[in-house]
Amino acid sequence: MPIDMDRYYTPERVAISALERANLPFSPITCADSTCGSGRLLDAANAVFGSVRSIGIDRDEDAISHLRLRRPDWFLSVGDLLHNDTVEVLPKRSCVDLLVLNPPFSHGNKKAVDIVFAGKSMKGSIAMAHLLRSFELFQPKLGAIIIAPESLLYSETDQVARQTLESDYQFQKIADLSRCTFSGASVQASVVQISPGRHCPSQQEIRHGDAVIQATIVRGSLSVHLNISSVHGAPFLHSTDIRKVVFTGSTRDLSNTTVVAKGRTKGWVILIPRVGLPDASIVKALKLETMTQLSDCVIALSFSNKASALKAERRIHSRWTEFRGLYRGTGARYVTISRLSFWLSTVAIATVA
Ligand SMILES: C[S@@+](CC[C@H](N)C(=O)[O-])C[C@H]1O[C@@H](n2cnc3c(N)ncnc32)[C@H](O)[C@@H]1O
Repeated sequence: MPIDMDRYYTPERVAISALERANLPFSPITCADSTCGSGRLLDAANAVFGSVRSIGIDRDEDAISHLRLRRPDWFLSVGDLLHNDTVEVLPKRSCVDLLVLNPPFSHGNKKAVDIVFAGKSMKGSIAMAHLLRSFELFQPKLGAIIIAPESLLYSETDQVARQTLESDYQFQKIADLSRCTFSGASVQASVVQISPGRHCPSQQEIRHGDAVIQATIVRGSLSVHLNISSVHGAPFLHSTDIRKVVFTGSTRDLSNTTVVAKGRTKGWVILIPRVGLPDASIVKALKLETMTQLSDCVIALSFSNKASALKAERRIHSRWTEFRGLYRGTGARYVTISRLSFWLSTVAIATVA
């Protein structure tokens, strides 16, 4: 299969189960898929929601020709979604209820492409570029159910685009797909529902009575090889020191550094290694008595008082498996600030960087 044609179609059972998981206030009457390929997601929409008016676009002429024969009643067009002028004007496009989408995930070696959305220029992944363009084109009343690389939810590449869409919509992951879902491609994908309205943590995310805890994320920046050890200066805390500091409750045994870099903190914190899966015994609230320089492999969540730090520790531990799931990567597992802060918001820990 030629990779550049992106024919990684959604298996039927995956498409149906993705749409069955959607939480919608009413059943859509019109659904659109702007990269419809063989039409699997629109087929699933017809199976799950009853007969829906179906609009499909794809740049692959063969795919659209086959689909026209199989589904003569659908509104289908050949067009390149990322080049405005080649997309045919669609019938009553402003009346689309739900967008169903499994966009292309990659674009050769290019990590990011240029996107213009809502008059704003930004960079983002190819999947995000398709998503935003589709929202602009269809303005779906109920939002979208998309199959996307999970990085779309967390990556720094897509952060600006995500935040832009989040001013009117909220993202919710509703399922993880197994790596072998798409024949011929190994990719970590999720089913994501994007619904109108700003993100506010759901009842499921915040249990009754949980108040939001405020925290500051302090990301260390000093790499070990740039450190200049000295008897003077601030204690220098690397990820391999976290265990010692948690167990002794002190930074006394650390070496000091005279280098002043970003990522210094003091007071009530929870220290988190950026790289390497942590175990629960080191992710603990503790008080740093002196201003401490964090290495580039350490992230600190800093709290204004002991009660908040202890409460945050309990919340993280109560969802420990999910917290460890934030560490991803094919080599050494690592967590990113955006992945961490997004997840913390689901346990009612609001962060500022
Ligand atoms: C991963 S497949 C998904 C197809 C279908 N939505 C499904 O779930 O089975 C991606 C589709 O995007 C189409 N595509 C890729 N780039 C496109 C573009 N710029 N404009 C329109 N369609 C595009 C490909 O032809 C392919 O059919």
